[in-house]
Amino acid sequence: DFMEQIEGLSTIEEQIKDILECEEVVIVSGDADLDDEAIYNIGHAAAKVLLRNISNNDIIALTGGSTVHRMIEAIPSSPIKAKNVYVVPARGSLGNNVSFQANTLVAMLAEKIHSNYTLLNIPDNLSQKSLESVREEPEIQETLNKLIKSNILIYGIGNANKMSERRNLGQDIVKHLSDHHATAEALGYYFNQQGEVIYASRSIGITMDQMTELKYPIAVAGGHSKSDAILSVKKLLSRGCVIMDEGAANGVIALS
Ligand code: G3H
Repeated sequence: DFMEQIEGLSTIEEQIKDILECEEVVIVSGDADLDDEAIYNIGHAAAKVLLRNISNNDIIALTGGSTVHRMIEAIPSSPIKAKNVYVVPARGSLGNNVSFQANTLVAMLAEKIHSNYTLLNIPDNLSQKSLESVREEPEIQETLNKLIKSNILIYGIGNANKMSERRNLGQDIVKHLSDHHATAEALGYYFNQQGEVIYASRSIGITMDQMTELKYPIAVAGGHSKSDAILSVKKLLSRGCVIMDEGAANGVIALS
């Protein structure tokens, strides 16, 4: 019954809090690997957490991904009370399908909550040299300065293999990832089980160091298949809020 289900979820929340050593955990019902509803539930929960935490002059940074996309879909189209809010992409494009790119999601969210936004319009696969010169562009600098000051970051956690496939990373990078036992992806960084960054996507945006200093990170991940990835990025999850479905949570519990 419904009350039992709620109680069950809060027991799992406490267990996950202990395992991941994080401040705030929200577990929603379902398993994204088995049913679409779980991702909708994560989206709704994340939307609630986000809307509850926005205040005047906040800068909200977003990554791409289908889970963050669901959160934005769950946000009602109506102006928020907070004034002078900015939405910015956490990283430049990482080769995702355009509908899941951070830039696209930033524009969607800003339109819904009637806030300001800036984009990181950087083509994929630029050489390191071109990337360095793009970084110096005043428009990009302005966005990067906003990003450094961001108060809230919403990001998805992915499976390293799935993400490298989705982003069509070259064969040499795929080999590097498998040689170094990549398990997780977040913010364009790939991690091994010990939480070490083993590959950083060539892009512009928030860095790992800046990420760990952010005021309020909100991580979203669904599906049993992501439990290994979630455990791998445990270090990132110590502050802010972690939102996952039962499938992912039960997997995390089983693995630890
Ligand atoms: O940036 C993408 C995330 O790491 C995971 O994406 O929410 O589509 O699984 P997803």
